[in-house]
Amino acid sequence: AQESHVSRTPQPNTIAPFPAMRLRRTKSSGALRDLVRENTLTVADLIWPVFVVEGENVAQEIPSMPGVVRRSVDLVVKAAKEARALDIPAICIFPYTDLALKTERCEEAWNPDNLSNRAIRAIKAEVPDIAVMTDIALDPYNANGHDGIVRNDEIVNDETVAALVKMALAQAEAGADILGPSDMMDGRIGAIRTAIEAAGHHNVTIMSYTAKYASAFYGPFRDAVGASSALKGDKKTYQMDPANSDEAMRLVERDLREGADMIMVKPGMPYLDICRRVKDSFGVPTFAYQVSGEYAMMMAAAQNGWLDGDKVMAESLMAFKRAGCDGILTYFAPRMARILAGN
Ligand code: PBG
Repeated sequence: AQESHVSRTPQPNTIAPFPAMRLRRTKSSGALRDLVRENTLTVADLIWPVFVVEGENVAQEIPSMPGVVRRSVDLVVKAAKEARALDIPAICIFPYTDLALKTERCEEAWNPDNLSNRAIRAIKAEVPDIAVMTDIALDPYNANGHDGIVRNDEIVNDETVAALVKMALAQAEAGADILGPSDMMDGRIGAIRTAIEAAGHHNVTIMSYTAKYASAFYGPFRDAVGASSALKGDKKTYQMDPANSDEAMRLVERDLREGADMIMVKPGMPYLDICRRVKDSFGVPTFAYQVSGEYAMMMAAAQNGWLDGDKVMAESLMAFKRAGCDGILTYFAPRMARILAGN
């Protein structure tokens, strides 16, 4: 959905002195609060990330993400139907890859029949009007757990980009609507855009994980996709330093020039300043990923009775709208959608 509000700071001389102005007046009833509310969260703002696993009728719990399961393709299709019935516009696929398929060259990433591509095809066949988003990075298929190909302890950029292009083409071929490069290699957006245009996929969009930080908040996700045990070292030579903000602006400008349609900031809650800066500076479709660790924190506190789960969920998602985001990738998507639908 579109960002609902453009922030403007009033000039000092437009503020009346007390008691001409009492800011409590417009808070004094629910009706008044409804009238002056600046931002709205709707179901059209939500993208639901789901984990896929081999098998049939399989739903595996993920201990560090209470309430989130890995689903076999048949159950992912069922989940997509439920999501569409709730008016959730998009679903994002993340595969759990068997250890036996992980190699140093990551060939499974561009196998047209890999788990992720089978899930995309199955969803598009049965729920054609939900948008299917993918993740483009080699980590699910990499024996090293890294997003790029590793040689002599180095994550090699250009060779990784060539692999990512093959991966992107296979996903577009399978029917993906939104490609999500999350690898943070240099030059990948341009290379992917050129290749999918040449292959005739003119309407396949790219949501670039542009400002993706080297964050400790991805821990539960790495459990969910089975990448934690494989990962050697950290991702600091490609993901962003949490201390940086100007660098994010350079990355956004670069990704837009290379052909990104939408920009993502990740993680979400600790990086709302980056969301606002991207929206204000570029005015392009801006998304945030409320990542696994953010979800786990809120769920853990709610399960302990320390926080009200529904309320912190709704408040955290509204904060993204206030920060200028057009939408949010969140594991809470179906739960929030049910509340927004009034049940
Ligand atoms: C893979 C990828 C990651 C996430 C999305 N895509 C993990 C990582 O970069 O290590 C994290 C999502 C989450 O934590 O919910 N490149």
